Amino acid sequence: MFRIGPLVLTCLSLAYPAIGRSIYLDERWANGCDVAHTDGEDDTPNIYQALQDCPSGPIVFSANTTYNIFSPVELNHSDYSVSILGNLSFPTNMTAVQAAVNASTNGGFWIQLNGENVNVTGSEDPWSGWIVGHGQQWWDAYNQVARPRTFSFAVNNGYLYNLKFYKPIAWVVSLATASNVYAGNILIDARSNGSFPFNTDGIDGSGSNLLVEDAIIYNGDDAFTVGQNSVGTRNVTFRRAYVSYSSHGLSIGSLGKDPSQPSNVSDILFEDVFLENTLYGARFKSWVGGVGLAKNVTYRNIGVRNVSFPLYLTQSYVDQESPGAARVDNASVIMQDFTYDNFYGDINTFHPGDASCVSDPCWYYEEGADGTQAAILRCNPGTCQNFTLSNIHLRTQSGVPATLLCNNPPVDSPDVGFICQNGTFIAT
Ligand SMILES: *[C@@H]1O[C@H](CO)[C@@H](O)[C@H](O)[C@H]1NC(C)=O
Ligand SMILES: *[C@@H]1O[C@H](CO)[C@@H](O)[C@H](O)[C@H]1NC(C)=O
Ligand SMILES: *[C@@H]1O[C@H](CO)[C@@H](O)[C@H](O)[C@H]1NC(C)=O
Ligand SMILES: *[C@@H]1O[C@H](CO)[C@@H](O)[C@H](O)[C@H]1NC(C)=O
Ligand SMILES: *[C@@H]1O[C@H](CO)[C@@H](O)[C@H](O)[C@H]1NC(C)=O
Ligand SMILES: *[C@@H]1O[C@H](CO)[C@@H](O)[C@H](O)[C@H]1NC(C)=O
Ligand SMILES: *[C@@H]1O[C@H](CO)[C@@H](O)[C@H](O)[C@H]1NC(C)=O
Ligand SMILES: *[C@@H]1O[C@H](CO)[C@@H](O)[C@H](O)[C@H]1NC(C)=O
Ligand SMILES: *[C@@H]1O[C@H](CO)[C@@H](O)[C@H](O)[C@H]1NC(C)=O
Ligand SMILES: *[C@@H]1O[C@H](CO)[C@@H](O)[C@H](O)[C@H]1NC(C)=O
Ligand SMILES: *[C@@H]1O[C@H](CO)[C@@H](O)[C@H](O)[C@H]1NC(C)=O
Ligand SMILES: *[C@@H]1O[C@H](CO)[C@@H](O)[C@H](O)[C@H]1NC(C)=O
Repeated sequence: MFRIGPLVLTCLSLAYPAIGRSIYLDERWANGCDVAHTDGEDDTPNIYQALQDCPSGPIVFSANTTYNIFSPVELNHSDYSVSILGNLSFPTNMTAVQAAVNASTNGGFWIQLNGENVNVTGSEDPWSGWIVGHGQQWWDAYNQVARPRTFSFAVNNGYLYNLKFYKPIAWVVSLATASNVYAGNILIDARSNGSFPFNTDGIDGSGSNLLVEDAIIYNGDDAFTVGQNSVGTRNVTFRRAYVSYSSHGLSIGSLGKDPSQPSNVSDILFEDVFLENTLYGARFKSWVGGVGLAKNVTYRNIGVRNVSFPLYLTQSYVDQESPGAARVDNASVIMQDFTYDNFYGDINTFHPGDASCVSDPCWYYEEGADGTQAAILRCNPGTCQNFTLSNIHLRTQSGVPATLLCNNPPVDSPDVGFICQNGTFIAT
């Protein structure tokens, strides 16, 4: 155990003025426990030890130390804080990771924090405080067996700040079932220098009362997703973000996978997000025959640069890989009070799609799509209600007018803002 004293505080503050200011001069951090580290050994037991020694924290992963998180971490503790100043390294032995995931009873999360009132703060040093997944070798081997999920924060009253993730193996941050959580400055870098980084979903926001802002996400699946398998996601805001690489964008869904379980999400806001080179921008998908209600959803101030499907929705989704039992097409998730306002930038006209296409037809194939679509709106009859599209300034890269694919016009919409047709996008 190591208690942070005034001398160490001074040294840290001199070496890292910004860290000193934001963390060490705060009264809350006056007492804490360093997590011990031993080269070549698993440091996970030392985390439990530190928490036992300092039940309210802060639990400190020291700077300039690379911790070996050789076994999964699950903390069922409340009222404490964690400071991640050093790197946390997942095992490089894939078999060992798979064995632990196979043995896990929590869905395979490598780091999982439950409980209430939990603060996790990272480092302001760009070269330190990373959670390092060593995902490259998994991507290059196309190994999708028993992959761990990186980080679950299933906390009520939580605070995440400055967390950084490098080459996660697959799914990165889960806020599913979290409530009253603020997450700021999350950086996710899942860029591959080899094969495609499949299923590197950024942040799963299927909780309630969540505010996620100032994220930077480079990944190969949804950057932010709301409501997957959810029965009650509510009041979630994702704003001021930059999303890039082969990301699949800002997603709601898929909703209604289980036809006996209504999927409900409400009060969702995506605001001030810029997406570059991504496959999708704003995206909604609900299952054929699914039930539920998605209500009061807003996407506004969404900038795109070279994005294949900037504004997309389908209510007749079926997952090719796990379609489940045959689906009766007699129901639909209802979409109500949807606002899409101020979309600007250019559509990926010349090379739509990305390297995640491994089937024929491609999983993202859209009948009629040709790289000129500002929007693809595949509503079921009568099930898109009270829609508004305004200030849609999306242009093609070839200079031809942007187009639209529209299956059924939204109903009960005082000012829907466009003509529902298969052809030129005409704002009204
Ligand atoms: C970390 O290492 C760098 C370079 O060796 C050094 O300048 C710095 O003081 C160290 N920081 C801490 C907190 O030990
Ligand atoms: C944490 O709680 C869950 C569910 O309550 C339980 O299954 C798990 O064993 C607990 N883990 C630890 C490390 O106590
Ligand atoms: C977590 O941080 C917030 C904001 O800095 C603070 O209000 C709260 O008291 C902290 N909670 C704990 C358990 O440290
Ligand atoms: C990797 O882990 C497996 C299972 O724990 C073990 O049998 C194997 O020896 C390890 N490989 C290396 C190179 O350490
Ligand atoms: C993990 O389980 C999968 C089946 O889900 C199996 O193919 C694999 O061999 C197992 N790996 C280890 C290391 O236990
Ligand atoms: C921490 O991890 C990042 C990402 O892998 C790396 O760039 C950095 O050099 C590492 N820092 C240390 C001190 O090893
Ligand atoms: C990817 O980067 C790593 C680390 O720099 C390097 O070892 C590897 O050879 C690179 N792979 C390719 C395909 O360039
Ligand atoms: C919505 O969530 C935010 C972020 O947690 C919170 O500040 C706000 O009070 C919540 N609003 C409602 C109506 O619950
Ligand atoms: C979902 O919404 C429907 C329609 O408003 C409602 O009947 C149902 O009770 C809701 N379910 C949940 C779990 O909130
Ligand atoms: C719609 O959701 C937003 C948050 O995204 C919230 O501020 C607003 O109050 C909600 N509107 C209604 C009518 O509930
Ligand atoms: C339509 O949706 C807008 C935006 O969410 C909302 O302000 C308005 O009250 C809704 N209109 C009706 C009739 O529900
Ligand atoms: C657009 O084409 C689809 C088939 O791709 C068709 O189902 C739909 O009705 C058409 N929309 C309109 C407004 O005609």
